[in-house]
Amino acid sequence: MVKKAPATVPGRHHVIWFGWKLVIFLSVALCFFALFRLHFSPDDISSPSSLSRPRLRSRISPDNFHGPPKIAFLFLARLNLPLDFLWGSFLENADVANFSIYIHSKPGFVFDESTSRSPFFYDRQLTNSIEVIWGESSMIEAERLLLATALEDPANQRFVLLSDSCVPLYNFSYIYGYLMASSKSFVDSFLDPKDERYHPKMSPVIPKEKWRKGSQWISLIRSHAEVLVDDEVVLPVFKKFCKRRPPVDTSKGKLNQKLQKQHNCIPDEHYVQTLFAMSELEGELERRTLTYTLWNQSAAKMDNKAWHPVTFNYADATPKRIKEIKDINHVYYESEFRTEWCKTNSTSVSCFLFARKFSGGAAMRLLSQGVVGPFEVTTLLGNTR
Ligand SMILES: *[C@@H]1O[C@H](CO)[C@@H](O)[C@H](O)[C@H]1NC(C)=O
Ligand SMILES: *[C@@H]1O[C@H](CO)[C@@H](O)[C@H](O)[C@H]1NC(C)=O
Ligand SMILES: *[C@@H]1O[C@H](CO)[C@@H](O)[C@H](O)[C@H]1NC(C)=O
Ligand SMILES: *[C@@H]1O[C@H](CO)[C@@H](O)[C@H](O)[C@H]1NC(C)=O
Repeated sequence: MVKKAPATVPGRHHVIWFGWKLVIFLSVALCFFALFRLHFSPDDISSPSSLSRPRLRSRISPDNFHGPPKIAFLFLARLNLPLDFLWGSFLENADVANFSIYIHSKPGFVFDESTSRSPFFYDRQLTNSIEVIWGESSMIEAERLLLATALEDPANQRFVLLSDSCVPLYNFSYIYGYLMASSKSFVDSFLDPKDERYHPKMSPVIPKEKWRKGSQWISLIRSHAEVLVDDEVVLPVFKKFCKRRPPVDTSKGKLNQKLQKQHNCIPDEHYVQTLFAMSELEGELERRTLTYTLWNQSAAKMDNKAWHPVTFNYADATPKRIKEIKDINHVYYESEFRTEWCKTNSTSVSCFLFARKFSGGAAMRLLSQGVVGPFEVTTLLGNTR
């Protein structure tokens, strides 16, 4: 016979009542537990003045590689690399086991014989690149994509971010020795009391006292590259509150007014610096950039107080001028009254290994001066091999 539930089991109401009590008790207990977690969790979002070290994802152990440690050169390009002939010549004088190349360019752009003058760049573009709007947080995301891809090779131990107008100021072996001698990252980072780019709504995730500013052109050791790629706390706040105010465009009428009211903040000049300050990593940094930029201060008043980098053309890239840049051995940070005497592993060195922005003509002149290695005419003929 089919076993039907007995119609009237004595105490059935008691069972239901007990069930309800249990449900209510559990809900209340859950509420208390959640409250308790909110108050005492170490990841408590309301007091994140120092970020807990991100757990390492299942990554290959950093020491688990054969051969020499490599420098990963990470190029942020708009399209092609106009100075590839100079870098090609620079890399000709390297050991191929000592470096790797990654390029973030426009999605779909491929580096091959038709787009690059140096085979070192063939097929080195990321396959997952994104559309980058200069001065927006997409720039940071492109940097993170480069770092994440380069971290897949455990031999990559130094990560150098470069623009498509950057040039090396030395030969490969000098740059390799300089970077490998230092167990610190090179990140230009300072406090600027006059800075108005911090948005109060970034608090409490980003406390104002951790807000930093500095050059986008960084060189990282492996563990710092991991911190950047693993960050899930600071980046969303930057995406939300840190945007670039576009230049005045009256044709846009009302929209223009709205855009002009938008908080102006250039994420790539703050993100890494602020993230590292929040992660208590400043003691592991040489707080300066390796990339020389000449700023045009006279243009400052015209464009939202932003200084423009000067482009070096053929006439500017004289041996005297290049030597002056290479002879710089300290940087003065006016807002902090801090003089940074340039060092790697406690040894005094020149401050700059790279420079921007260089035109093709200026890069050609560097090449002919033998700055990156012995000068060979063939490199000028569009074929580096
Ligand atoms: C590289 O440059 C350094 C410093 O400018 C120089 O001392 C060294 O001889 C150069 N090495 C090669 C292999 O050209
Ligand atoms: C390549 O790396 C090895 C091991 O670190 C080093 O001895 C060598 O000098 C490097 N080569 C160049 C050209 O820098
Ligand atoms: C840093 O300098 C110290 C002392 O001069 C030296 O023993 C050490 O090997 C250097 N580290 C690197 C990574 O070159
Ligand atoms: C600096 O900017 C001003 C104004 O935009 C311009 O006239 C001048 O040519 C620039 N100087 C250099 C060296 O680029």
